[in-house]
Amino acid sequence: MDKLQIRGGVQLEGEVRISGAKNAALPILAGTLLAEGPVSIGNVPHLRDVTTMIELLGRMGVGVTIDDKMRVEVDASSVSECVAPYELVRTMRASIVVLGPLLARFGRADVSLPGGCAIGARPVNIHVAGLQALGAEIHIENGYIRARADKLVGTRLVLDTVTVTGTENLLMAATLAEGQTVIENAAREPEVVDLADFLCTMGARIRGAGTDTIVVDGVERLQGASYDVLPDRIEAGTFLVAGAITGGHVRVKGTRPEHLDAVLAKLREAGATIQVGDSWIDLNMHGRRPHSVDIRTAPHPAFPTDMQAQFAALNTIADGVGTVTETIFENRFMHMLEMRRLGADIRIEGNTAIIRGMPNLTAAPVMATDLRASVSLVIAGLVAQGETIVNRVYHLDRGYERLEAKLAACGADIERVKDAA
Ligand code: EPU
Repeated sequence: MDKLQIRGGVQLEGEVRISGAKNAALPILAGTLLAEGPVSIGNVPHLRDVTTMIELLGRMGVGVTIDDKMRVEVDASSVSECVAPYELVRTMRASIVVLGPLLARFGRADVSLPGGCAIGARPVNIHVAGLQALGAEIHIENGYIRARADKLVGTRLVLDTVTVTGTENLLMAATLAEGQTVIENAAREPEVVDLADFLCTMGARIRGAGTDTIVVDGVERLQGASYDVLPDRIEAGTFLVAGAITGGHVRVKGTRPEHLDAVLAKLREAGATIQVGDSWIDLNMHGRRPHSVDIRTAPHPAFPTDMQAQFAALNTIADGVGTVTETIFENRFMHMLEMRRLGADIRIEGNTAIIRGMPNLTAAPVMATDLRASVSLVIAGLVAQGETIVNRVYHLDRGYERLEAKLAACGADIERVKDAA
């Protein structure tokens, strides 16, 4: 299994082009199931999760072709099986986003129930309850969600908790429902808006995406379309933190600065000079050590949970004491324990980590059990003295395209090595 070898101490300097957003590409690819004609999706990131979603579509009988620029052509006119099998869902929970579109278009879906996850229990009860309210009959049987509906019928849905993929599933299901669906307490993440924009190019009638009330007027059918996935705000934020922790100067290009307001505010608080253009963000730490920052995760537009671990890394070497409070997932602190092995001073009290910044970290072998935790260890490795080995790189390959090449282009001393074992 591959691992990353990082020799810390280099101030990053350079430019990084941001890829398409994983968490927009996955529901958009699932959304192609709704179309009666061929759909062409551009700016799809080359990631393991994307490959898994394409494999899932292929298993259903969907025709998928990919060109060398990762433009994906999907033809869902030939679906033969409305099934998301256990062996794929267990490798990627986001497979759950095929549930809504399959049910709406074909009247049936058998989707393996995702189990627990490294970062929390992550139930899907809100997805299921919402589809039932739209008229679906749903049974949990043999570990599968078995959903059936002759015709979904629009209604008013009030979500118990703000859920990103839950909102996406219900939004997709509602596009082909009879009449109007109103989704209250909807997630406002940019990826939800991107999905809604994509569905509209196929003929869906949606308004309010990006607010907490989304109104969908059902249509008879959706047609083929061409659409480009939005840039990945978490990838952009990750490179900015990598620049900041090293005291460096990094510019991310091909991004949407307005999606990163909460993250940029915290980077400014940490002492970075931030400049933004239409599609770029420039961060300069002027060779200085960052100040500690307090962060608290919450649904968009507040500070994203997917940036929590990276800011924890920043705080480990910052000047002062910073607190990190995680309110979305109950077990998203695994990286803190690994950072302690690099010499970080971290105390955990419930869902808050109190981090006293050290003048430096010292390298060690580390590993993590999820994507953002893994990348936070890479970031810590960029400043640790000596050679840090980050094991289980497959987590990174799920969500970061050419991470080590992009970091190396900014001067990082980082290398992927094959594990002999
Ligand atoms: N929740 C429920 N019931 C549900 C659904 C969610 O109780 O039916 C709870 C969850 O347990 C959690 C909270 O609601 O406590 C919010 O979870 P949400 O459903 O919003 O998470 P998700 O849709 O499963 C997406 C991203 C995650 C990101 C979260 C939060 C995708 C494919 N995944 O997950 O991304 O952390 O939203 O923003 O969009 C990542 O990219 O590394 C990642 C984990």
